[in-house]
Amino acid sequence: MGSAFVRWVADRHLEVRVKVLDKLTYAGNPANIEGTGAELVVGDICDSALLEELVPGCDAVAHFAAETHNDAAVADQRGGDGGPPGGV
Ligand SMILES: NC(=O)c1ccc[n+]([C@@H]2O[C@H](COP(=O)([O-])OP(=O)(O)OC[C@H]3O[C@@H](n4cnc5c(N)ncnc54)[C@H](O)[C@@H]3O)[C@@H](O)[C@H]2O)c1
Repeated sequence: MGSAFVRWVADRHLEVRVKVLDKLTYAGNPANIEGTGAELVVGDICDSALLEELVPGCDAVAHFAAETHNDAAVADQRGGDGGPPGGV
């Protein structure tokens, strides 16, 4: 969902600069945003210090990070190693 959103923005809003924060879990793939011009930062959305570095100056934040394997999300609602719970 996140990479589709990035491609949608890149196709329609050339003036918008996009930063992607992704932990690159089993589900993450940098190839999905190749050619979009988006800046990829590898990290955890639960890392508040990193968010304080990245978010100031942004006009909007769209959150698509998730633990989408339901069995893992149910077993640990923080996403195993402190990640976000499943669902948006
Ligand atoms: N795929 C769909 O059709 C669909 C439809 C409606 C809603 N949604 C919701 O959208 C959200 C995303 O779904 P998806 O299918 O793109 O999931 P996905 O598993 O394909 O992608 C999740 C992304 O989150 C990243 N991620 C996981 N934990 C992270 C963390 N702690 N910090 C940073 N990045 C992290 C992963 O690396 C991956 O790139 C989910 O909440 C899902 O329920 C998906």
